[in-house]
Amino acid sequence: MKVCIVGASGKLGKYMVQHCLDLGYEVVGVCREKSVGKLVDYQDKMTILPGATNDRALIKKALDGCDGVLTVLVPWGVQQYASGTAQAVLDFAKPGARLIFSCGWHITRDNQDIYSRSLKFQVVIGRWIGRITRLLELDDQVEACDRIFKSDSKWTVVRGSDLEEGESQGLPVWSQHVGDPLLESNMTRRIDFALFMVDALVKDDLIQEAPAIVGCQTPSALAHHQ
Ligand SMILES: NC(=O)c1ccc[n+]([C@@H]2O[C@H](COP(=O)([O-])OP(=O)(O)OC[C@H]3O[C@@H](n4cnc5c(N)ncnc54)[C@H](OP(=O)(O)O)[C@@H]3O)[C@@H](O)[C@H]2O)c1
Repeated sequence: MKVCIVGASGKLGKYMVQHCLDLGYEVVGVCREKSVGKLVDYQDKMTILPGATNDRALIKKALDGCDGVLTVLVPWGVQQYASGTAQAVLDFAKPGARLIFSCGWHITRDNQDIYSRSLKFQVVIGRWIGRITRLLELDDQVEACDRIFKSDSKWTVVRGSDLEEGESQGLPVWSQHVGDPLLESNMTRRIDFALFMVDALVKDDLIQEAPAIVGCQTPSALAHHQ
C-alpha cells in the first residue's frame, strides 16, 4: 500500500507516519517547508514533499500512485486552507483510493448530532476569535467537509473528540452521532486518533461514514461499547 499523509509534520501527522511505517506501507508526506525538520527522524524512511497542503500542483504530485490518502484538515488562516486542501485531494486522488480526513466533533454530516452547551460555546468562541485575529476559519473546515460528504469517492471523515497525549490504549470506538452515551467521556489519545485514521484505510464499513470517536478505555466506552 502506498499512502500519502497530507499534513505529515503535525502531532497527528507524525503519529500516522509511524503507524503507516509500522505496517510496512510506502509513505509520502506533505508538510510546510518550514516544518520539514520535524520529520527528521523519518527522512530516510519516507518521501517528503515540502509545501502548502492546498497547493494543487504539489498535491497532484504527492498523490500520484497512492492507494490511500490521510489528510489532516486544519482551518488555519483566512485563505480557505481546509477546503482548498480537501478539494485538491478529491480532485487528484486516483479513482478508488481510500481518502481519510480528520476533523472534530463540531462537524456534522446530517444535523443529527446533539451537542453539549460547552461544545457549542467553544465553537462560537473559536469562530469569533478566529474571525477577529484572522488566524482561524472554522467555517472553511465545515465547507471542506461538505464538499467531501457530497463526493462519490471512498471517503471517511473521522471526527475527533478532545485529545490528550499518552501511550496507546488501542483502537478508539465510534458512533455515527455526537450525543450517543458511548462518546460521553469526550477524550481520545492523539496516538489512537492516528491509529483510527490509518486503520480506516482498510475498513470498508467506514466508507462514506463520519465516525465520531472516543478512546476505547474511557469510562463511557467501557460502559456502553457492545
Ligand atoms: N486539538 C484538538 O483538541 C482536536 C480535537 C478534535 C479534533 N482535532 C482535529 O485533529 C486534527 C489535528 O489536530 P491537532 O490539534 O492534533 O494538530 P496537529 O496534529 O498539530 O496538526 C496541525 C496541522 O496544522 C498545520 N499548521 C499549523 N499552523 C499552520 C498554519 N499557520 N498554516 C497552515 N498549516 C498550519 C501543522 O503543520 P506544521 O507541522 O507545518 O506546523 C499541522 O499539519 C485536525 O483535523 C483537528 O481538526 C483536534
